[in-house]
Amino acid sequence: MAINNFSDHTLLTHDQHDDKHQGAVTHPIYQNSLFTFDTVEDYEKARETLVDSYLYTRGNNPTVKILEERIAALEKGEQARCFASGMAAISSAILSTVQSGDHIICVDQAYGPTREFLSEYLTKFNIHTSFVDGSSIEEIKDAAQHNTKLIYLESPTSLLFELQDLTACVSFAKEIGAKTIIDNSWATPIFQKPLLMGVDLVVHSLTKYMSGHSDVVAGVIVGSKELIYSINKNEHLLLGGILSPQNASLILRGMRTLAIRMEQHQKSAFEIANFLEEQPFITKVNFPGLPSNPFHSLAKKQMSGFGSLLSFETALPYEVVREMVNSLRLFRIGVSWGGYESLATLHRKNDSNTPVVRLYIGLENPEEIKADLTAAFQVLVQEQSLG
Ligand SMILES: Cc1ncc(COP(=O)(O)O)c(C=O)c1O
Repeated sequence: MAINNFSDHTLLTHDQHDDKHQGAVTHPIYQNSLFTFDTVEDYEKARETLVDSYLYTRGNNPTVKILEERIAALEKGEQARCFASGMAAISSAILSTVQSGDHIICVDQAYGPTREFLSEYLTKFNIHTSFVDGSSIEEIKDAAQHNTKLIYLESPTSLLFELQDLTACVSFAKEIGAKTIIDNSWATPIFQKPLLMGVDLVVHSLTKYMSGHSDVVAGVIVGSKELIYSINKNEHLLLGGILSPQNASLILRGMRTLAIRMEQHQKSAFEIANFLEEQPFITKVNFPGLPSNPFHSLAKKQMSGFGSLLSFETALPYEVVREMVNSLRLFRIGVSWGGYESLATLHRKNDSNTPVVRLYIGLENPEEIKADLTAAFQVLVQEQSLG
């Protein structure tokens, strides 16, 4: 069976062994900046096929390439290109689709620095972005201009977990001659394969679930040979935000357990989301896996499972909720997510006064996570009874 036809579980754990390395069970880390040649002719041949050959590690490196092939196979893309961070991948993917004078449509709940790149950085190149409620295809359509060249999606988003209808977005983008990019970090290719729905480029913060151990910052773009070829030649090689071979090796190691980690994350997320829904002071649980969630039926259509980053809203004052978050013991307070450890952050919903607590459910025992939350919620109960 061709390697790319294997299931995700097998793809992640089955290495093709390289005869040159004495059957070493893991791939070696090619920790070299350049590659040398026996003859000038060989060197010249490598230069001719610069994007595909091993000449210099800013262009290609065998360890990074193994990771790129693995991610491309998982996402069902033709090729992938890794970067030094999720933001390096996101900014490079966006830059590869637009020119000065173009217009972009982006979902208004996209990751903050992505929004900042679009709304503040790109304006100096006369590239302007309209931010829309991504849950409404009508809003997306209404925002289109004659020069719209990109629709940027993040589904689900990473604070309120809102979805976009990917098939509808892709079909509209094709109608107006625009490209589509999606940030797929939350669902991972285990639970969502946007290229199969016609999206042009998938981006990931590999920092999150894909590496899975909170020890690497990295990113990737996946898509067709043609689009990745152009990104290789331009944004990857010229801007130079490349992934190091050491980090590629760490990500390959983390990815061996991606499928089983995602199964456990999903299982725990359901337990915690159901538990949160029962709490009287919680007004809303933002988790598309819950049947009560407005995005649930769309989620069932375009995803095969759910990540474990979720949030809840309450009408209680921000300061009281802050005390509750401070009293959590298993949840550390910190940005990012996707590692083994549970995390919590406190936000204000759309700059209003409504507190939103974002919880990342790690790999701890879900019963112990619930016990920790129950103890912390006592702060709210006490406050309510005092009030
Ligand atoms: C949804 C999402 N996309 C992209 C990024 C950026 O990734 P990185 O921090 O690897 O640059 C993040 C980081 O938190 C994120 O949460």
